[in-house]
Amino acid sequence: MSPSNPTGAVYPKEEIEAIGRWALDRGIWVVTDEIYEHLVYGSARHHSMPVLVPELAESCIVINGVAKTYAMTGWRVGWMLGPPDAIAAANNLQSHQTSNVSNVSQAAALSAVSGDLGAVAAMREAFDRRRRTIVRMLNEIEGVECPEPEGAFYAFPSVKGLLGREIRGRRPTTSAELADQCIAEAKVAVVPGEAFGAPGYFRMSYAMGDEDIVEGVSRLASLFGESRP
Ligand SMILES: Cc1ncc(COP(=O)(O)O)c(C=O)c1O
Repeated sequence: MSPSNPTGAVYPKEEIEAIGRWALDRGIWVVTDEIYEHLVYGSARHHSMPVLVPELAESCIVINGVAKTYAMTGWRVGWMLGPPDAIAAANNLQSHQTSNVSNVSQAAALSAVSGDLGAVAAMREAFDRRRRTIVRMLNEIEGVECPEPEGAFYAFPSVKGLLGREIRGRRPTTSAELADQCIAEAKVAVVPGEAFGAPGYFRMSYAMGDEDIVEGVSRLASLFGESRP
């Protein structure tokens, strides 16, 4: 998945192509989730794997949807692109499992994808500003290290420098315990890296207003500022 949830990493063109060729040579199917394709920042560019490796088209499924590009999270509309037999099989399965997406969601999604991408350009600008704010503020906190994400809308800082230290009478030793303390004492919700098989990190969404980001990270800075050996 590139751009990635949870890290915000964007694979360079050469890497996507290399993975595609590697899979092609071994007859391995690829499912590529490209839902954040329009949310890339700075010099990062999104590249779709079957565009770079066209021969992969017969063994590749592309996942996408309206949730991110059109800020339509909750409308529950996404789609798959792939070889007709694979799509037919998925249709058979899904139509028996969940029936269909509601008509109103389908009409809204159709309207979204029929329009231009003007709104996403404005959103990307706002996300980029929030991204720079959250990364800067996180890196100012002792014990937190945040690499710069190049896509999606998540920061994925390491909080390893805080683990095992005493904070307000508790001594969290895992990012999950520290995340519990963040919500209990700072009223800031983060997803601990444990949820993604990456303990020691937080996934923090910056899909929210600029002021809320400043307020939330400031609260974490105050809480973590009290950490003692
Ligand atoms: C990588 C990725 N794919 C797909 C989705 C699907 O979004 P939805 O279920 O809202 O369509 C998400 C949402 O968080 C995501 O991060």
